[in-house]
Amino acid sequence: MSSAPPLYLDYAATTPVDPAVAGAMAECLGRDGDFGNPASQHAYGARASQRAARARAQVAALVGAAPEQIIFTSGATESDNLALLGAARASAGPRHLVTLRTEHKAVLDPCRHLERQGCSVTYLTPARSGVLEPAVLAAALRADTLLVSVMYANNETGVLQDIAALGSLCRARGILFHTDCAQALGKVPLNLASLPVDLASFTAHKLYGPKGIGALYVGEGVRGRALQPVLFGGGQERGLRPGTLPTHQLVGFGAACELAGHLLQEEGPRLTLLRERLWHALATLGGVHLNGAGAPRVPGILSVSFEGVEGESLLAAVQDRLAVSTGAACNSAVRDASHVLHAMGRSARLAESTLRFSLGRFSSESEVDLAAATVVREVRRLRSMAPGQEPPPAPGVTLVSGEAGGPEQGTWIRFHLIVRGDTVKEARFKALACPHTVDTAAWLCAQLAGRRSADLIPGTPAEWAAARAVPVEKLGRLLIVEDALRDCLTRWH
Ligand SMILES: Cc1ncc(COP(=O)(O)O)c(C=O)c1O
Repeated sequence: MSSAPPLYLDYAATTPVDPAVAGAMAECLGRDGDFGNPASQHAYGARASQRAARARAQVAALVGAAPEQIIFTSGATESDNLALLGAARASAGPRHLVTLRTEHKAVLDPCRHLERQGCSVTYLTPARSGVLEPAVLAAALRADTLLVSVMYANNETGVLQDIAALGSLCRARGILFHTDCAQALGKVPLNLASLPVDLASFTAHKLYGPKGIGALYVGEGVRGRALQPVLFGGGQERGLRPGTLPTHQLVGFGAACELAGHLLQEEGPRLTLLRERLWHALATLGGVHLNGAGAPRVPGILSVSFEGVEGESLLAAVQDRLAVSTGAACNSAVRDASHVLHAMGRSARLAESTLRFSLGRFSSESEVDLAAATVVREVRRLRSMAPGQEPPPAPGVTLVSGEAGGPEQGTWIRFHLIVRGDTVKEARFKALACPHTVDTAAWLCAQLAGRRSADLIPGTPAEWAAARAVPVEKLGRLLIVEDALRDCLTRWH
């Protein structure tokens, strides 16, 4: 078996630090480098301060902002929190906010927090393409609306919103407009100087910069009155985000932004071509759905839902070779299917059988082809395992089949017992199920040979779980396996 690491196709989760960025950061770490505290009055501080100023200018340049409009934070999560909580804190009394159901949790969770504090929040549903129609936003705005938050590019589907149109609606009514640009920065041209945006969140680690550094753009219209800090301390960052500036992080962020600015025109079309190449190869499977079809999308993100396969099994089948994300948290009994895909109208079933491929600076055609071939092969294999038509039994034996569950439940299992007289000669199964269920069914098939109808079922689901190290939260799925065996019994005679 090859021990090569899986192909990295998860650039929307995070990116490696570009070597040029790492080099710039290293210059600010050691004893001979610019390690000083930028707030210090001595020469070390002055050098670090110059570095910080340059980084601020580099970030600002990539987004068409003035350097003083950039407030450094620890990343997009903090920037989103500062924008939403800071605006609410600055307003007199609880107010109304509007956001989109497909936002990142870094926006949705502060909204829920504000609701607990007495604010009201309207969560808008996008069209099936993932796009928020400006008319839908317009209809949700109220006299007491304080802020609207709509992300620039979605992290699961790559869908881009019409920020100019949405922001204009807000500006015309004096409502603050925030946009989470974590997935847009360095991927699509951004010019905040010409966009009706008041607050915008950024993070460095999605564009080949380090983790733990980001920024909030605070536009001209937002004075101290409209935004209050959520942290208190040394007064850095215009009092909006105290704490010693991490020079090396800032420098890394700045260098990453400058590099992205140089590469944007060439990287965007290259990644769009790679993304389409991947999609066309996957589409040959049939029964595949492109999430965000028909909507403008960032170049590198491709989200695809596969019919006829179980999500966890699909991920397990490819993850030795491909590092991709899924549309669900599959390791719990409660299937936490993607809230983004759900809001776009995908069934829980399809949302669970979704893979997000995200391509980046170091992705190549050959990687995309290998990824497509791997997924196509594994989806075909898993589909061939799903319960379907069985060939007729050989003369002299009886085929006893029993099934339980169904595709809608995400666990569908059918046993086929080849019976001679009253004895199982051989047992087989077909399944659309998670890897634990498939493993248990295969193990049970070995146990079933030689058994008679009176003692067909070997033990209980709890015993099978213990024997096969199935997590306790998956016990419900083993009950479906047991039901399939019981169904065999009801059909035996
Ligand atoms: C759209 C979006 N917003 C916010 C975040 C959080 O960013 P950070 O990891 O910098 O806190 C992410 C990253 O996962 C994201 O994709």
